[in-house]
Amino acid sequence: MLRKFTLTLLAVCCTPYCVPALADEVNIYSARQENLIKPILDIFTERTGVTVNLVTGSADELIQRLTLEGDNSPADMLIAEDVGRLYRAKEAGVLQAVESAAINDIIPAQYRDSEGYWYGLTLRSRVIIYDRARVNPADLSTYADLADPKWDNKICVRSSGNIYNQSLVASMISRNGVEATEAWATGLVANFGRDPQGGDREQISAVAAGQCDLAISNTYYFGGMLKSTNEAERKAAAAVAVFFPDQNGNGAHMNISGAGITKAAKNRDAAVQLMEFLAGEEAQAWYAEVNNEFPVRADVPASEVLQSWGTFKADNLALEELGIHNAEAVRLMDRAGWQ
Ligand SMILES: [Fe+2]
Repeated sequence: MLRKFTLTLLAVCCTPYCVPALADEVNIYSARQENLIKPILDIFTERTGVTVNLVTGSADELIQRLTLEGDNSPADMLIAEDVGRLYRAKEAGVLQAVESAAINDIIPAQYRDSEGYWYGLTLRSRVIIYDRARVNPADLSTYADLADPKWDNKICVRSSGNIYNQSLVASMISRNGVEATEAWATGLVANFGRDPQGGDREQISAVAAGQCDLAISNTYYFGGMLKSTNEAERKAAAAVAVFFPDQNGNGAHMNISGAGITKAAKNRDAAVQLMEFLAGEEAQAWYAEVNNEFPVRADVPASEVLQSWGTFKADNLALEELGIHNAEAVRLMDRAGWQ
């Protein structure tokens, strides 16, 4: 019977990615919006016969839910934005380690947990967005330079409660230590053109509107605005450009969205199979294109929009460092007066 089942699945399965399903379903808790992931999950279901059920929410809520549910949790996989959250999930004890040579061979070591608790699936950089008319890109160089008084009243960035900023600061702590990073954050805050408000898109719009000359933003927000159906967003994006900092140093700050298998997973093997699928070429190309992110594997090309920004040097810091230094980063930003 089992043999017949396997053969049937093999018979309907005719693509390069083709392994018989091991369970009927995988349950995901996802901090990514449904439209950013559902279509590729549907393709997985088509190929394998495994139904994928999606519960969406904020990462911290989902991590708390996993903690409260314990072994009774129905979730097999957690998908989160930002490595800081994946690290929190590991620390909270709601994930389990995965040993998959198939994934480890594909995803560079700095973009996955050293013990296999989480894996990066898409890649983004946190960059400087500058006004094309008012800023000469030759005057831009490093993250450190953003604390220089020459940028007084010229920088827009969202609040310190935001995990992307926490991760950027955590990377600087990892590289330069607390003292130097705190001096930098204090100088950066002194250069704010307004009190932190809104998300990354709002910072870019504020630059286009002349409120600031520079914004700090994740690359996919800029990519999303360039391709936006909203004309005002497209117009704002056309007025600015992207600058990758630290090209003569460590390289531009990188972060991931990614996933881990939950500790309580009842459908572990199917969940690992899904993870391998998401790390596969087809999923990587689709997933990155749809959210304007860089594929996490080097052999899959980025979308046309992202390629139009040119190649850049990416920081190769192991991303678990961002989780390790998160709490220190939050305290430091508070001391620096970063609201
Ligand atoms: Fe985001």
